[in-house]
Amino acid sequence: MSEKPTSSPVIRTMAPSDLDRVVEIDIKVLGKPRPEYWEMKLDLVGKRSQISSLVAESDGKVIGFIIGGASRWEYGVPENIGWIDTIGVDPAYQRKGIAKNLFTEMTNSLKQVGVDTIITFVKRRDPNLLNFFNSLGFQKGDMINLELDI
Ligand SMILES: CC(C)(COP(=O)(O)OP(=O)(O)OC[C@H]1O[C@@H](n2cnc3c(N)ncnc32)[C@H](O)[C@@H]1OP(=O)(O)O)[C@@H](O)C(=O)NCCC(=O)NCCS
Repeated sequence: MSEKPTSSPVIRTMAPSDLDRVVEIDIKVLGKPRPEYWEMKLDLVGKRSQISSLVAESDGKVIGFIIGGASRWEYGVPENIGWIDTIGVDPAYQRKGIAKNLFTEMTNSLKQVGVDTIITFVKRRDPNLLNFFNSLGFQKGDMINLELDI
C-alpha cells in the first residue's frame, strides 16, 4: 500500500542506529537480506571521509537511503568522479520524489569536494533503476565492466 508522508521527508546523514531499518528496506527492494554488507558499509562510512551515506526520514521513520562518495583515485578513477553505490526507497513510499531528493542532496555535497561527474552501475535488465537514473539525466558512460568466473 502507498503511504503518504504527513510532513516533507528530512534528508540526514545515516547513523549506526539506522542499520536495522536500512536492512529492512534493502530486503524489500532486493528480495534478499545482506546484513554483513550493511555492517561493513556502515563501518567504512565511519572510517572513510570520502564515503557519504544519507537517509530520508518521514515522521521519525527511515523510508529511503543512498550511499555514494568521491573516488579519490580508486580504480585509477580521478577525484572529480563521484559514485553512487546503492540506493533504495521503501516500496510504500516510492514515486514521491524521495530517491531524487536523496540523490540531489548527495550530489550537492559531492560538488563541494570537487566532483563534477557521477558514475553508477545498473543491471541491464533492471528497468526501474535504469528509468530512475535516466530521469536524472544519466547516460551510458565510457567505462565497461569486465568479469571472469573463477
Ligand atoms: C529506483 C528507486 C530508488 C526509485 O525511488 P523513488 O523514490 O520511487 O524515485 P523518485 O520518486 O525519486 O523517481 C524519480 C523519477 O524516476 C523515474 N522512476 C522512478 N521509479 C521508476 C519506476 N519504477 N519505473 C519507471 N520510472 C521510474 C520517474 O521518472 C520518476 O519521476 P515521476 O515519478 O515523476 O515519473 C526505487 O524504485 C528503488 O528503491 N528500487 C530498488 C533499487 C535497488 O534495486 N537498489 C539496490 C541496488 S542499487
